[in-house]
Amino acid sequence: MKEGRVSQTALKVALGLVTLSIKDDWAERLPEGLVELSERLLVASGVTGYGPGMIRASKKQWMIRLYGVQEWILPGQFEGFGHRKIWVNEQVEAAMAEGARQVLIVGAGFDTLTQRLAPKHPEVTFFEVDHPATSAAKAKGLAEIGQPANLFQIAEDLGERALAKVLEEDARFDTSVRTVFVAEGLFQYLTDGEVRSTLKDAAQCAPAGSRFAFSHVEPGFSKWVEFLTGLIAERWRSAVASEKVPDYIDGTGWRIVSAPDDDPAHGAERYALAERQ
Ligand SMILES: C[S@@+](CC[C@H](N)C(=O)[O-])C[C@H]1O[C@@H](n2cnc3c(N)ncnc32)[C@H](O)[C@@H]1O
Repeated sequence: MKEGRVSQTALKVALGLVTLSIKDDWAERLPEGLVELSERLLVASGVTGYGPGMIRASKKQWMIRLYGVQEWILPGQFEGFGHRKIWVNEQVEAAMAEGARQVLIVGAGFDTLTQRLAPKHPEVTFFEVDHPATSAAKAKGLAEIGQPANLFQIAEDLGERALAKVLEEDARFDTSVRTVFVAEGLFQYLTDGEVRSTLKDAAQCAPAGSRFAFSHVEPGFSKWVEFLTGLIAERWRSAVASEKVPDYIDGTGWRIVSAPDDDPAHGAERYALAERQ
């Protein structure tokens, strides 16, 4: 990612969800409040090009047709964002219902999960870690639309400072508390080594029974994807087949507890849930 630049992919995911909400019955299927909060957050973050005019344009039918071009390169990816948001929301809700008292989103971007769930769960502490430029833009937005008291942002480039170090030195994060970690749409931007380090670091900072919900990209994405993601300086660097994920994460302290995800509706991505051993 370009130094000091707000993540373009994070902005695009949030805006894509706004457009998805006018397609078919997606407005009802997406987690409650997601679309309205995404719109307000994007505008309040003050990123050039993401003002009220862009939000209005994103809700026009022709915008759906524009995503048709993306579908040609990455089939299923447009609706895949919606499926991903629903799945992650379910995993976090389930983990909290079973005792998790911390939620930590790695590479949170302009995702609204913590803003939606934090006010409903004062007993849980929510954290978001992101690259400083993206984190700062989101902080600006949260300051305007309201930041729940139990939500904390941590601005760090995890390429510069390991997650374990960041969390162990942050007095607000309790390494003895059962935690649900989320890495949604993040691992493809890291190398295999960085993915494994992130998982190891999270395991080092959380007790048994903690969970890690993540998405990963299936191998075999086209040269077009490499070219286009390279163009916005957020190139895809890793991929792993669903059935190989248990071996891929072996030795990181986590064990896959979900069945291999073979659902093509998830676009180029697949989802996996791991539990701390
Ligand atoms: C594709 S976006 C996904 C955003 C969000 N998870 C979502 O699903 O809407 C990837 C996010 O990972 C963050 N990220 C990428 N590399 C990072 C790094 N080295 N340290 C911290 N955050 C990083 C980016 O800033 C961006 O917000």
